[in-house]
Amino acid sequence: MADKDGLKVQKNYHIDVPFKTNGNLHVKGAANLDWGMKKHLTNIFNPKTGNTVMFAFDHGYFMGSVSGLERLDILIPQLMDHVDVLMATRGALRTCVKPNFKKGIALRVSAGSSMINEDLSHELISVDIEDAIRMNADCMAVQTFIGADGQLSSIDNLSKVINAGNRYSIPTLGVIAVGKNMERTAQYFKLATRIVAELGAHIIKTYYCDDFEEIVAACPVPIVVAGGKKLSEKDALLMAYKSMQGGARGLDMGRNIFQSNNPVEMADAIGKIVHKKFTDKEAWEYFREKTKK
Ligand code: R5P
Repeated sequence: MADKDGLKVQKNYHIDVPFKTNGNLHVKGAANLDWGMKKHLTNIFNPKTGNTVMFAFDHGYFMGSVSGLERLDILIPQLMDHVDVLMATRGALRTCVKPNFKKGIALRVSAGSSMINEDLSHELISVDIEDAIRMNADCMAVQTFIGADGQLSSIDNLSKVINAGNRYSIPTLGVIAVGKNMERTAQYFKLATRIVAELGAHIIKTYYCDDFEEIVAACPVPIVVAGGKKLSEKDALLMAYKSMQGGARGLDMGRNIFQSNNPVEMADAIGKIVHKKFTDKEAWEYFREKTKK
């Protein structure tokens, strides 16, 4: 292992230089994958724009029935035509999503914590690869806790899921967790996203922060940005716009969609930024117009 004290400060991210080994595929870092992987990634990332709007409603796996997700059977049919991917647990998908849903599925496969735990960083793999195959998952989502108490077990989980997914051509989505003691800085996210990508994750979910374009440049697979706690719609659209400007290939948003008073219009406004190159101001105007009483 390299001597960590002798490391130079990273500085040249060549932000303006496009990724060099993409071949003719629209998904970063996927050119050398096999057909099955590419097919699943194409179900997630729109081939016309290379981007995606993922709707995350997997919160129940550790938060129970969060405000806004009390009735998945009512909410999901309203939203499913307005996003590209549903990110959820197998329990939510099997009970509340009609199998005629033709878009992407990001299946949550790690679990083990709950809101009443002090330390959320200890998880295990809760879904077998066979069940992910049965559910036709386009990717498997694993929480990773870099720098936390549960780092080792979360890397073990991630590696096992990647190894199993590689056997059956199902990509893995590495979700970068932030805990109480983890800073939301570019330095931290650069470290965490790069570790998870080098371990073989095919997509990374992380948070937006200053110098986001450096995180993207140093990460050889696509980054989708997490929504996080509920913001005003205007602020959430700004965060979405800044993320896309910084090189994100989409948003994986939960509370900022389902806790909005107008979740469908919010999902559409995010879609305008992600796929139609709207600025945050244009998307906000669109949202206001659509929700005018
Ligand atoms: C985050 O760690 C988990 O993946 C979630 O439960 C979820 O995806 C979070 O979405 P949001 O922060 O946008 O509500």
